[in-house]
Amino acid sequence: MIVLGIETSCDETAASVVKDGKEILSNVVSSQIDLHSQFGGVVPELACRRHIDLIMPVIDEALKEAGISLDQVDLIAAAQGPGLVGALLIGLTSAKALALALQKPFVGINHVEAHLYAPMMSEDKQINFPTIGLVASGGHTNLLLIKGIGDYQSIGKTVDDAIGEAFDKTAKLIGLPYPGGPEIEKIAKIGDSSRFPLHAGKVKESPFDFSFSGLKTAVLYTLQKQEKPYSEQLKADIAASFQKAAFYDLIKKTRLACETFSAKTILFGGGVTNSMTLRSLFEKQTGETIELIWPAPGLSLDNAAMIAGLAYHRYKLTNTSDPFDLEPKTRISF
Ligand code: KG4
Ligand code: ZN
Repeated sequence: MIVLGIETSCDETAASVVKDGKEILSNVVSSQIDLHSQFGGVVPELACRRHIDLIMPVIDEALKEAGISLDQVDLIAAAQGPGLVGALLIGLTSAKALALALQKPFVGINHVEAHLYAPMMSEDKQINFPTIGLVASGGHTNLLLIKGIGDYQSIGKTVDDAIGEAFDKTAKLIGLPYPGGPEIEKIAKIGDSSRFPLHAGKVKESPFDFSFSGLKTAVLYTLQKQEKPYSEQLKADIAASFQKAAFYDLIKKTRLACETFSAKTILFGGGVTNSMTLRSLFEKQTGETIELIWPAPGLSLDNAAMIAGLAYHRYKLTNTSDPFDLEPKTRISF
C-alpha cells in the first residue's frame, strides 16, 4: 500500500511517500526556521501563510522523489493534531482535497502518536510490548505505556512548558538563536554542568508528570545575578547546567516508568530525541537491561514519513476513510 503523508502541525511543511508502513520512498521537509528565528519562536500566522505557499510544491517534490504518480497513491494521510489549528487546517484540507479529487481514502493522524511510531519504522526486529514511549519535542512531553500500535495508556505529561519549549526559551535568555535545543547542545560541550545547581520541577503526587517552566525561570534568575555582557564560558556553563537538569529529569522518570510497568524497551520520538547528548546519557543510565529504540535520522524532528507510516496501520486496522468534515484539533489526549 502506497501512502502519501502530509505534516503541517507547526513550522515544518512536510510530505512523504511510504510503502507498507515502513519503506520510505521520499521524506521531504521544508523547515521555516529562517522565517521564525528572528522572533525567537514560531509565529502562528506566519507559519500558516508559509504552509499555504509550500504545501503543493512539497507534495509534488515528495511524489517526484518517490517516482510515484498521484494515481498510484492508495491512501492520503495528514496530521489532524495536536498543533496550531491554522497550520493543521492547511495540511488536512490539502489531504481531503486530494482524496476527494482522486477518489481515494484519507485519514487524519495524531501527530504525537506518529512521533512514537517513528522509531518503529526502522526497527527490523519484533518489538517487545509493553514498552514505554517518551515523546520529547517543542510542543509535547509525554510518557506512555504502549501495549501495541494504537494501544496506549498515558502515564505522564508536562504540566507547563514542553521540554523543547524550555530549551528554546532558555536559549533565548542566553542570546542563542531559535531553535534553541541544538544551540544549547553545541555550547554545553565546553560548559561546566555542575556550576549552577539547577533542577526540573516535581509535580505533587504525580511522579511521572513533568514541569520545566521553573527550570527556565531559575535560568533567568541566575542570569540576572551575572555581569553583562555574558562571557562565552558563562553561557556554556548555564547551557550545560540547564541541559543536565532537563535530561536527568527525563531519564529518571522514564526509568521509573519502566520499573513500575515492567517494560524492557523504550521507544523515543520528537525533536529533542535528536540530541546525541540525551542518547548517550540514556545509554549510560539504563545499562544493558533496557533496550532503547531511537528514530532514524530524519525521523526525530517533525516529518511526514511518520504520518504516512502510522496511517498504513490505522487504515489496515479499520479499513475506513475518515469523514470529510474531520476537523483539526489543537489538543488530542490519549
Ligand atoms: O518534534 P519537533 O520538530 O516539533 C514539535 O513537534 O514540537 O521538535 C522541535 C524541538 C525544538 O524545541 C528544538 O529546540 C528541539 O526539538 N530540539 C532539541 C535538539 N534538537 C531539536 N532539543 C535539545 N537538544 C537537541 N539537540
Ligand atoms: Zn512534533
